Amino acid sequence: MSQQVIAIDGPAASGKSTIAALLAAKLRIPYINTGNMYRAITMYALDSGIDLETKCTNEVFAPLLDTLKLDYIQTASGDYELQVNGILPGLKLRSPEVAAFVSPVATLSFVRDWLKDLQRDSAKPGLIVMEGRDIGTVIFPDAAFKFFLTATPEERARRRLAQDGETFDGATLESVARDIAERDRIDSSRAIAPLKPAADAEIVDTTQMTINEVIDYLARRVNNECS
Ligand code: DC
Repeated sequence: MSQQVIAIDGPAASGKSTIAALLAAKLRIPYINTGNMYRAITMYALDSGIDLETKCTNEVFAPLLDTLKLDYIQTASGDYELQVNGILPGLKLRSPEVAAFVSPVATLSFVRDWLKDLQRDSAKPGLIVMEGRDIGTVIFPDAAFKFFLTATPEERARRRLAQDGETFDGATLESVARDIAERDRIDSSRAIAPLKPAADAEIVDTTQMTINEVIDYLARRVNNECS
């Protein structure tokens, strides 16, 4: 039986998070942003004083994750947000400091296995939208729906630069494009669960589409199959 999951994967700044959140709201189902889980682990390590330049290893993260609890909760506004040890970190997860280390942290097998169990458990109650890099390939290879969102590197850099608080002061289109290309390189070339479309995923190039056009398209695809 296929898993009751709408998997949305794709590269950095492809619009996945915005689209996945709005699609889930439109369908009135929960939304899990797995990139935020990797960001929360990275933030927790930095806040715990770990020097991730030199100490980004499974041995460092194994004991650290014993003291970390991550939960997706529905807030009063109806949005789904990630709680980190009972606290909502909000935009801190999107800070450039966290972004600078999250890709190396996401290469660690201990971190990926720890999150895999948590992510699989989240899908038990019913249909959800789950967004990330490996949802259709590794976490839910039998997801009911698999979409892989892309956009050209130039368009992704433009979108990232337009997002408040997500780039260092003085960032330019060129510097943001370089950072995104480096994240793509690490995410796509890592040994475990590299970024790539599942063989049976539908690839949606959003370069020329508005957010609403993408959401309407995905909702139609889901509703057609469910009705
Ligand atoms: O989607 P994002 O930019 O918030 O993701 C942050 C990082 O986490 C990104 O470098 C890749 C990693 N990631 C991953 O490896 N697997 C996922 N399912 C989600 C994110």
